Amino acid sequence: MLGVILAGGQGQRLRPLTLGVNKHLLPVGDRPMVAHPLGRLVEAGLDEVVVVSSAEGVAALAAALGSGHRYGARVSFVVQDEPLGVADALGAALPWIAGRAVCVILGDNVFDSSLREHALAHQRVGGALVLLHEVQDPERYGVARIEGERVLEISEKPARPPSNLAVTGVYFYDHSLAERMAGLEPSARGELEITDVNLAYLRAGLLHHRRLEGRWVDAGTLDAYRRANQTFPA
Ligand code: DAU
Repeated sequence: MLGVILAGGQGQRLRPLTLGVNKHLLPVGDRPMVAHPLGRLVEAGLDEVVVVSSAEGVAALAAALGSGHRYGARVSFVVQDEPLGVADALGAALPWIAGRAVCVILGDNVFDSSLREHALAHQRVGGALVLLHEVQDPERYGVARIEGERVLEISEKPARPPSNLAVTGVYFYDHSLAERMAGLEPSARGELEITDVNLAYLRAGLLHHRRLEGRWVDAGTLDAYRRANQTFPA
């Protein structure tokens, strides 16, 4: 299984910290933000990792991560030409993924539980696997409505969330990812949404869920970035 870290975008919600610095290189605890998801992939045994970012982002991230050797990984870099959404960034990596199963992590997701069991579970069930985490402010995230093993619905940043289960930025996809992504259209905010990729699997009856235990922070806003540093101090 290949690891993919999506680390593009403009970091608008972290301004002014991101003026001149790629969001994923801001420190969280004792290391750059992006080293957290990278460490989680390596710990789960996924040491071949593709990092996607803008051209400037790739230059900065390559300077920081190098070959990945320091982190126990083999890291390659892929450019996303325009910040057209999370799923657009994933689309840029499709030629590298080349039909392999992947674990995709958003570069601003910082968490402390192992992905090992989830990777094994995905090997067993196939399709797509999303990891859910209970939150106080579900309207900030993709939100899942579940019934037992089944995911009934996922909505992106709903004004009236159907549950308090955030879809974290950790996703497992099988060999059919390119096929599921083929018909994606931009959302109302003009982006290709990862929620729509998950919905394509849901429609095919191939979307599974598990809980992401432990602590999880999406460090994409100033408040959440502060919380990430409080939760994961040096
Ligand atoms: O963290 C979990 C949430 O992440 C999910 O619950 C949402 O369903 C998902 O859409 C996403 O929401 P965000 O609003 O947090 O996404 P954001 O635009 O902050 O992008 C998250 C990461 O994806 C970011 O750190 C870098 C990467 N990205 C984003 C965009 C827009 C790219 O690589 N390229 C892009 O064009």
